[in-house]
Amino acid sequence: MIGRRQLLIGAGGLAAAGLAGRAWHQGLLGGDNPALHAWDEWASQRQAGALKLIGAGVLASSPHNTQPWAFALGRLGVDIFEVPGRNLGTMDPFGRERLAGLGGAIHNMALASTALGRAARVRLLPDAENPGHVARIVLGPDGSGPPPHPLLPFIARRHTHRGPWRGGLVAEAKLAVLLAFPAFAGVKVALFGAGSPAGRRFAALTDDATAAITSDATMMADSHRWFRHDHGEAQRLMDGVTLATSGVSPWLAAAGAMMPAQSAASEGAYWLAATRDTHLPTASLFGLILTQQPHDRRSALLIGSAWQRLHLNATAAGLVAQPLNQLPEMIDREAQMRAAPRFARAADALLDDPAWRPGFCFRLGIADAPANAALRRPVSAVLGPPARLAWEIDQWKAAAGAF
Ligand SMILES: Cc1cc2nc3c(=O)[nH]c(=O)nc-3n(C[C@H](O)[C@H](O)[C@H](O)COP(=O)(O)O)c2cc1C
Repeated sequence: MIGRRQLLIGAGGLAAAGLAGRAWHQGLLGGDNPALHAWDEWASQRQAGALKLIGAGVLASSPHNTQPWAFALGRLGVDIFEVPGRNLGTMDPFGRERLAGLGGAIHNMALASTALGRAARVRLLPDAENPGHVARIVLGPDGSGPPPHPLLPFIARRHTHRGPWRGGLVAEAKLAVLLAFPAFAGVKVALFGAGSPAGRRFAALTDDATAAITSDATMMADSHRWFRHDHGEAQRLMDGVTLATSGVSPWLAAAGAMMPAQSAASEGAYWLAATRDTHLPTASLFGLILTQQPHDRRSALLIGSAWQRLHLNATAAGLVAQPLNQLPEMIDREAQMRAAPRFARAADALLDDPAWRPGFCFRLGIADAPANAALRRPVSAVLGPPARLAWEIDQWKAAAGAF
C-alpha cells in the first residue's frame, strides 16, 4: 500500500516534473537548440561564397531581435531588403530602429566580404523606386579584396549583455580599441563615464523614459509581441527576446521559466526594475550615437552600422555592451502622439549641440561572464524568391543598358 508520505513525495515529483517541463519549454535546460545553429554556421565558416555574407548578416543586432531582413543572392553580390511587417509598432513608430537593425546586418556583411578575398562595394538605398531595397553589396573578382578583417571571429561572439556588470573604469587601451573604426558619414559617437555629470543625467533620463514606456499600455503590448515565453514557439519562429537572454542568472532564469508566462505588465515591471537596479548602476560608460537627421533612412542605416561596429570592437576589447534606447524611443513616441516634446527637450539639455540628435543609446562595461546567444533564423529562412527576382531584374536592366 502507498503511504501518505510516499504520496506526497509522488505529488512533489509530479509538480517538479511539471515545472521542469516549463523550464524545458523555455529552452533553459540545455541540449541542442536549432534556433541557435546560425551562430555555429558562421563560426565554423561552412557557408560557401557569397552565402557567407548572409550568414554574417543574420547575426547582426536588431530591435527586440525582430530580424527585419530578407536577402537575395546573385552572381555578382547580395541585395538586402527591409521587411516592414517585422516591426515594433508604437515602440518604433517611424521604423528608425528597424533600419538600424538593417544597418547592422549590412556592416556585418561588408566585414564578411573580406573572408571571400573579393572586393566589396556597398551601395545604400540603391533603388529610388523601392525604398525597401536598403542595400546592394557588389562583389569583385576572386583575389580583388583586402585580407580577412580581424573582427571576423567576433561576429559570432557579439551578444547583447543585460546582466549585472562589475562597474569601474575602462582602461584607456580598451577605449582605443573600442573607438578604432572608420567614420560613418554624418554620424558621431559621444561617450561619458557612468559617474560623470553627463552620465548621471543620462541615467536619470533613461530611468524616466523607461517609466514612461512601461506605463504606456500600447507600447508594452507592441513590445510583448516579441517576447517568446514558450520553447516550442521560440523554436518555430527563431526570433524575439527570451528569458535566457534577459540577463537574469541561469538559476533565476530556470526558476522564472517554471512560472506562468509573463504578461506585458509584469514584463514592464521587471524591465523597469532591471534598468534601475542593474543596467544603469553597474555600467562603466554610457554612450550616444548621434546624427543630425535621425529619421532620414540613410542616417538610420548608418547609425545601425556604427552600433554593430562599436559592439564588435567592444567584444574584441573584452568589454560587454547593451543598447538602452528608451530615450530615443520616447522622443519618437511623443512625436507620433503629437505630445509635448518633453524627452526631446531633455535630450537637448544633455547634449552640447542640439543640432545633433540621439539615434542610439547604450551602456558599456566589464562583466564576469559572457551573455547567452539570442535566437536566429538561418540563412535558408531569409532568402526570399521575390527578392531574388528583384535582383535578377536589376541585373537584366543593367545588362540591357536601358531605363
Ligand atoms: C536599433 C536597436 C535598438 C535596440 N534597443 C535595445 C534596448 O533598448 N535594450 C536592449 O536590451 N536591447 C536593445 N537592442 C538589442 C536587441 O534586443 C538585440 O540585438 C537582439 O535581441 C538580438 O540579440 P543579440 O544582440 O545578442 O544578437 C537593440 C538593438 C537595435 C539594433
